[in-house]
Amino acid sequence: MIDMHTHVLPDLDDGAKNEREAQAILEMELAQGVQEVVFTPHYYGKKRSVNDFLEQREKALQKIADRIPEGLKTRLGAEVRLTGVNDPSSDALCKLAIEGTKCVLVELPFTERWNQSLITRLSEFVGDTDYTPVIAHIERYQEVWKNPAIISAFVKMGCLIQVNTAAFLDKKMRKFAFALLKRGLVHCLGTDAHNADTRAPDYAKAKEAAYAAGYGKEWERVQRHMDKIFAGESVCITCEPIHKFLWWYV
Ligand SMILES: [Fe+2]
Repeated sequence: MIDMHTHVLPDLDDGAKNEREAQAILEMELAQGVQEVVFTPHYYGKKRSVNDFLEQREKALQKIADRIPEGLKTRLGAEVRLTGVNDPSSDALCKLAIEGTKCVLVELPFTERWNQSLITRLSEFVGDTDYTPVIAHIERYQEVWKNPAIISAFVKMGCLIQVNTAAFLDKKMRKFAFALLKRGLVHCLGTDAHNADTRAPDYAKAKEAAYAAGYGKEWERVQRHMDKIFAGESVCITCEPIHKFLWWYV
């Protein structure tokens, strides 16, 4: 299993506070059967240049290098905030791709309206480069709750969709997360782990929940997608759109 979204590197964002906490998170990942973890610290363009960020990320990695448990592979990446205003250029976004892949994990505004320039920035990035935006934790955005059909529009545009493992465990969210899984609208999974306590990795529990709900086959399909992405292969996506009807997803 691959955890494509974590905040393990210390002192970079609101994730692990120190080396000891980073190590604790990684040990939990390994114990849960995760074989590879991507370090995706937040990148907010306004606060620092891409080069400064990459330099600080490398320093943070060096701090924990000897604390990474044996048998656990790791890669560098970033969770890049896009808002439609002063967003990083396509060149900058490419530099922030997950190591060894052409995928860039992007986070969109949670509660604000998604303006046209944000959608344009994403589609220009897809058109200008051979890189793929991966929309982080799709289940967390108000715009998606209002109009879930936007997810398949992102896929049509050339984006991939990441869901947090916690979504399969949350009482309010799990119905939506399973509906996405069923329709082929989940391509990557991440724990979005920030610490070893309140936002700790929960990959094994999410897998258990998916199998218990009868979505084992779909869960394994997502794992195959991630294996392919990490092997540098292209992923063939077949999905159905999702719509909201009253309190149900159809
Ligand atoms: Fe995150």
